[in-house]
This record gives sequence, C-alpha cells and structure tokens, in this order.
Amino acid sequence: MITPKTVLLHVLALFSAVSSASAADAVVTVSADKPGAVICPEIYGQFAEHLGHGIYGGIWVGEDSKIPNVRGIRSDVVAALKNLKVPVVRWPGGCFADEYHWKDGVGPRCDRPSIINTNWGSVVEDNSFGTHEFMDFCEQIGAQPYICGNLGSGTVAEMSQWVEYMTSDAQSPMANLRRANGRDKPWKVKFFAVGNESWGCGGTMTPEYYCDNFRRYNSFLKNYGDNKLVRIACGPGGGDYNWTKVCMEKIGGAMDAVSLHQYTIPTGDWGRKGAATGFDESEWFSTLKNTIYMEELVSENCKIMDAADSQKRVGLYVDEWGTWYDPEPGTNGGFLIQQNSLRDAIVAALNFNIFHAHSDRVRMTNIAQMVNVLQCMIMTDGDKMCLTPTYHVFEMYKVHQGATYLPVAVKGPEYDFGDRSIPAISATASRAGDGAVHVDLVNADPNAAHEVECDLSGMNAKSVSGRILTADKMDAHNTFDNPDAVKPAAFAGAKIEGGRLIVKMPPKSIVALEVK
Ligand code: AHR
Repeated sequence: MITPKTVLLHVLALFSAVSSASAADAVVTVSADKPGAVICPEIYGQFAEHLGHGIYGGIWVGEDSKIPNVRGIRSDVVAALKNLKVPVVRWPGGCFADEYHWKDGVGPRCDRPSIINTNWGSVVEDNSFGTHEFMDFCEQIGAQPYICGNLGSGTVAEMSQWVEYMTSDAQSPMANLRRANGRDKPWKVKFFAVGNESWGCGGTMTPEYYCDNFRRYNSFLKNYGDNKLVRIACGPGGGDYNWTKVCMEKIGGAMDAVSLHQYTIPTGDWGRKGAATGFDESEWFSTLKNTIYMEELVSENCKIMDAADSQKRVGLYVDEWGTWYDPEPGTNGGFLIQQNSLRDAIVAALNFNIFHAHSDRVRMTNIAQMVNVLQCMIMTDGDKMCLTPTYHVFEMYKVHQGATYLPVAVKGPEYDFGDRSIPAISATASRAGDGAVHVDLVNADPNAAHEVECDLSGMNAKSVSGRILTADKMDAHNTFDNPDAVKPAAFAGAKIEGGRLIVKMPPKSIVALEVK
C-alpha cells in the first residue's frame, strides 16, 4: 500500500542513491553477464636471462654456497617465486639466447667451457647454470620452461638436437646424452622460440629473411612422444607492424605464436632513459603515458593478426615488457640494475589491465626480468633478498590466472600534466572458478583521490574485501634495510551500496578487490 510515509522513504532512498552516485567521479562498468576469454595463467610469465645477476647470484649460488640452496638454487628466491605462482619462465635470453650453445651447459660442470657474455658486460660465463639447472629451477618453483633457441649464431642441427635432448624418450643420441648427464626421463617443454629479436641483436634480419629461416629451423624441431611444441616466432620490437604482417603472411600457418617486445622508457630516449628513483612528476607522467602505449601496440598487432587468422589460432606473446631506466649509479652498466618503486608497480598493473582486455589473443607475457635485472620481482645482494613493489602487484593480481575476463568500461577523470593527459583510472575484472569476482583499480594520478563507482551488471554483489598498494612518495621503494616500505595493506575504502561497488581510491594507488 502506498502511504505518504513509503513515498517519503522512496524519495529519501532515491536522493541518497543520487547523492552517493554524484560523489563518484569515475564510473566503471563491469559486464559480469558478458564474460570474455580465459586469462591464460602464462600472462603472468617471467623472463630470466644470463645477464648481470639475473641468474648468477640471483637464482644460482652453487651447491657449496653458504646461502641456503637446493642443488645450487637459492631457497629464499624459490620460496618467494612459488608464492607468485609463476606459470612460465623464458630462458636463456634475450640477446644471450642467440649466442648460447646449449651443449656448453650440460655435463660435469668442471668440463663446461667458459665463454664471454658479449651482450652483457663482457663478463665470463662459465656455463655452470645450463639446461639441467634451469629445468630444476622450473620444477622447484612449479613453472613451465619456455626455451628460446639460438637462431642467430647456432645451426639447425644444434637447435634440433636441443629439442631432442630435452624431450625425447627414445634410444637416440641426444636422449642418451641426457641420460648420461643424470636425467633419465625427458622434460616436458611446451614453449619454444625460434630466435630472439632477430631484427636486432639476434641477427639484424629483415622480416622476409627471418621468416625463411624460421621455416628452415622449424622444420627440424620435432614433437617427440606426446610433447607438442608451441612454436614461437620472433615478432616486432615496438611499432614495427610490417614485421607482424610479413610473419602472418609467410609463416602464419607454421607458428603458434608471435612475440612482441616493448619497454617503457620514461624519456623515450635510449641515450638518457631517466632514473629509477628521484624523478619528478614529469617523468612519473611520461612513464605512465609511455606504458599505456601498450594498448595501441597490442590492438594494432591484433588487427593485423585478425585479418590473417580470424580464428585467433596464433597467440600474441608479449615476451619482453617492463621499465628500462638508466642503470643505478656505480653499477656495471651492462648488468641493467635498477631500483623498483611505486611507479613500477603502477606500470605493472596498467600493463596487466591491458593484457587482460586482449586475453583472446594475448596468451603469454614475460616481464623483463625476474631477479636483479630491469623491472624485477626480487633483488638480492649476497645472502640478502628484498621484494620489489612490482612483486607485490604480481602477488595481488595472481587471482586472475586462469579466471574468466569480464569486460570493463571506464568513464572517468583525466590525469592532466601540463598540456598532456592520460586516464586517471584504469580497471580490470575477472571471475574465478569459485565464482568470486576480482576487480582491480589503478589511480595513476599522484595528486588527486578519486571515488569510483563500479556497476557490476549481472551480478548480485553482497560483500567486498581487498588490499591496497600505495605510498607517500612517487618513488617509494624497498631496500635491504627497509624491505617493507612498499607492501600491500588491508583496504577499508570499498563498500557495496545498492548493489554497486563504491571505492575511494587514494592518489597513486592500486586496489585489488574480491567481490562476492
Ligand atoms: O631484457 C634485456 C634485453 O632487451 C634482452 O636481452 C633483449 O631481447 C632486449 O633487447
């Protein structure tokens, strides 16, 4: 029955809904009723190259080290990586891959030859970490191996034999060599790349020449037993769309994925990239602007791939991405050592939000790199270890691995800097196997808080809980002496109101929410 009292209550309820809606300056629509593709766990892949202390010191300390280790692989790093559920690790490079001869890295360590790592600091590489050690590392952290083969300076036979060595169970020369080196059963190797950056350090090839080489080398990469290779072609660096076009035309039917490499450089100038810490707002802004260029790169590559492959059979693997700054003062410039701040965390989250939105085509990505190099998860110094802000984003976002993407649309304020601007709010969402919806929001604006209203269409939201990653300073970072300066904290700024999710986003923050 309608009485003056119920009318008044309805008016008050409407007024309260309108007034709370008007407090929000950003609206995010999550289409929970229109699920997209599964977010392949491999989107959370990583990259570990023989570069600086990426392997030696960072992962491999040797069996005789005082640093606690299992068969030479440091236990603190393994434990930290296991917590991230790292799905896949790309190895041994990078540029190093195209000068790596895998037979140098098998057999008794005392017999392994030393080489010069010409790409990275011209240091001596003693090959003590080779195929067996890498596979052991993958098994210890629970990740799949992704091997990058040497197309630039290796032979067809060498690449072919590596696959036989790793994956054949036959009584064949390479399988028997593996047995003689202590491993009876073959490993499972799904992901195999034919060369790295073949347009650059991998051989300065034209796309046409590369495709001919891909065809030749790929012909001799066999599937042994039930091991089926996912064959990955070298794709473009940055916006070289012609490279992708040629690959799709010439080897679109032979490859299973094509890679894309894109680094975020604050200044956009490889000669003076910008510092990892102590930067001003201008470099905060340009870093984030440069990183969201990933959206354009991925979209344009997807269009090219869609035109040739409407079934989306071929994956786009962004198998190198992340920030690249000037090296830390006083360090070997060839080791690519850089600090990692709250800005890197925002970069990681923005990239994941982009990758999720393209999860129908982007089925693997590998941040560069895992330990001690570029935008790493973990820094080590002797027996000390410290987790970076980027690590915490991988940890906060791991719930999205294998979940179903829920399309998001963001209407919201811009973050203006001078005469340039980028969207202040970025969002992503997915539904996990247990039905929970995970919504992640980023506020890229270092100065302004924003209230975000999320319309969860098709979902009857009842409760929300979450965590936040933020800090007082744009370049807040963790050190061995202060390892917890930037770490996730419980978040009380989200509530469900009238079925909508209302979130108060502090400046320069990442919020990870679970909605049920
Ligand atoms: O990640 C560092 C280097 O960047 C890789 O070796 C190479 O592939 C890229 O140019």
